[in-house]
Amino acid sequence: MRRLMVAGNWKMHGTRASVAELIEGLRNQVLPSGVEVAVFPPCLYASQVIDGLKGKSIAVGAQNSAVEPLQGALTGEISPSQLVDAGCTLVLVGHSERRQIMGEGDELLNRKFAAAQACGLTPVLCVGETLEQREAGKTLEVVGRQLGSIIDELGIGAFVNAVVAYEPVWAIGTGLTASPQQAQEVHAAIRAQLAVENAEVAQGVRLLYGGSVKAANAAELFGMPDIDGGLIGGASLNADEFGAICRAAGN
Ligand code: PGA
Repeated sequence: MRRLMVAGNWKMHGTRASVAELIEGLRNQVLPSGVEVAVFPPCLYASQVIDGLKGKSIAVGAQNSAVEPLQGALTGEISPSQLVDAGCTLVLVGHSERRQIMGEGDELLNRKFAAAQACGLTPVLCVGETLEQREAGKTLEVVGRQLGSIIDELGIGAFVNAVVAYEPVWAIGTGLTASPQQAQEVHAAIRAQLAVENAEVAQGVRLLYGGSVKAANAAELFGMPDIDGGLIGGASLNADEFGAICRAAGN
């Protein structure tokens, strides 16, 4: 049985004061023990969040990390080893906002994924199609290519300790959620692609859905056989809403 995961991607939101409030709100949540809960604050606030959440079982991750594992001359970047040193255990790789706005491509993301894993971080690989690609019937091709890039470069073993998040770009921050059936179709295809290489690894990998998940639609999505939790953006900035999504995963 895969343990469900609910992860909050805070994106570029927060101030020291609002982060303190969110920490307080999260501390007050009753979280289901069977669900792995994580938050991804802006790196600047990672230490504040890690200290603030001490004793609460919520993991903390980063939204991005460098292509090189160790510290060195790479202005503006944060290495995976530094994230580990700070107490992070996870890192997002290839969120669509970074693919689209920062121009991050598969080759660069392969390096980030490998560097993160080399330091013991669990990469959360984000994949997903744009509306144009979906309308052109290319969803599975696009997602297959993004996933295949890691498989080809790093091998199926890379997924023994990794999470995949399917996030259709058209559903992110738009209020348009993929229907549970639409999401399940892509999740099943992702698992099948992994299973071609190794069935056991494929069965063990958590596949999260992301894109306008809220407390009101979470249970239905998490009820699908290949949806193992969610990556939550906007709704994760509200502790009560995020807590409710975590509890939906626990039922
Ligand atoms: P959203 O974002 O929940 O605000 O749609 C999800 C994400 O980008 O991870």
